[in-house]
Amino acid sequence: MQERLLNLKNEALGRIMASSEEEELEEIRIDYLGKSKGKLTLIIKKLPTLAPEQRAIVGQFANEVKRIIEDAIESQKRIQNTKKQSNIITSEWIDVTAPSIRPPEGHLHMMTQVTTEVLDIFQSLGYQAADGFEIESDYYNFTALNMPPEAPSRDTQATFHLDPNGTDLSPGEIITRTQLSGMQVRIMEKTKPPMRVVIPGKVFRVDDVDASHGFEFWQLEGILIDKGVRLTDLLGTMEYVLKRLYGENQKIRFDCTNFSFVEPGVQAFMSCTVCKGRGCPFCKLTGWVEIMPAGMVHPNVIKAGGLDPKEWGGFAFCIGLSRAVVLKYQIDDLRVLTNPDLRILRQF
Ligand code: DAH
Repeated sequence: MQERLLNLKNEALGRIMASSEEEELEEIRIDYLGKSKGKLTLIIKKLPTLAPEQRAIVGQFANEVKRIIEDAIESQKRIQNTKKQSNIITSEWIDVTAPSIRPPEGHLHMMTQVTTEVLDIFQSLGYQAADGFEIESDYYNFTALNMPPEAPSRDTQATFHLDPNGTDLSPGEIITRTQLSGMQVRIMEKTKPPMRVVIPGKVFRVDDVDASHGFEFWQLEGILIDKGVRLTDLLGTMEYVLKRLYGENQKIRFDCTNFSFVEPGVQAFMSCTVCKGRGCPFCKLTGWVEIMPAGMVHPNVIKAGGLDPKEWGGFAFCIGLSRAVVLKYQIDDLRVLTNPDLRILRQF
C-alpha cells in the first residue's frame, strides 16, 4: 500500500510540474484528490479495512501525500501566473499593434459648460455671438453708456486703471473693463440694424476676495435693436431664457432698477437654488438672487452707437455667468471657479 502511495505521489508530481495551464492542474487535482473517484481518495477510503497498526502508519503517509500534491498544485499555479504576466509584458513591448493606454479624459470647465449652454439658448432665438476686449477705454466702458466723467454711477464699479506710460493716452483713459455693456455701442457702430447679439466675457472690479466676492467674474451681455421693441418683449425673453437655463418650475420675479444706460431698468430675481429659497449667506438670507439686470436701451446710448433713437430702439440685458454657474451647481464659494485644483474641478 505504501509503495502504491509513493508511486502515486511521483506520478502526480510529474504531471503537475509538466502542466502549463490552470485547467490542466484542476484535472490533475480531480484525478488524485476528487471526492468520489480520486485515486488517492479511494486509497484513503480503504484505510478502515487495514489492520489497526498498519492503518495508523499508512493513514499518516496518505495524508502526507495528499498535502504534498495540494502544495505542488498551488505552487505550480503561481509559477503559471508569473509566466503569464511576463508573457503579457514581453508581448506588449514588441506588439506595436496593441491598443495604447488611454490618457485620462478631461472635460470642459464648468464656466465653459454653462457659457456654451447659454449661447445655445440665445442662438436658438436668433442671436449672434461676439467677442470684446478685456482692456477697454474709459469712453466705451462708461462715457458712451450715458456715464460722463462726473456720473456718480461710475463709483459703483470700482475700476482698475492701467498705466498709460508708453502710449499717447492720458491717465484714466485705459482700464480693464468693469462690464460688457460697452460692447452695445461698439456693436451698434459696426452693425446695420436690426441686430441681436450676445457677448460673453470676463470683467474686473477692485474688490477683496472672499466666498462671495472676487476681482474678476464672467458675464454675458446681450443687445437687441429693432423697430417697435417693447418692454414686454424684454420680459418675455428674460423669462424664457431663465426657465430654459434653470428649469420650467423656477420662480422668477421682476423689479425696477436703475442703470444709466437703460430706461426703464429692470432686475430679474430667481429663488435661490443654493438654499431652495429658505435663505442662506449666498442670497443674503432673502431667498432670492439677482440674476439678470436689463432694460430698454437709453436714447443717448443709441445715439452714441450712431443710430437715430427716433427710428431705432431695443433692449439690453446681462447674465452673471459666474453666478449662473454657482447657482447651477450649488457651489457656495466663488473662489472654486478660479481654482485650478483638479480634485475640485473633476466634481463638475
Ligand atoms: N453692466 C451692468 C453691470 O455689470 C449690468 C447691466 C444692467 C447690463 C442692465 C445691461 C443692462 O445690459 O441693461 O452691472
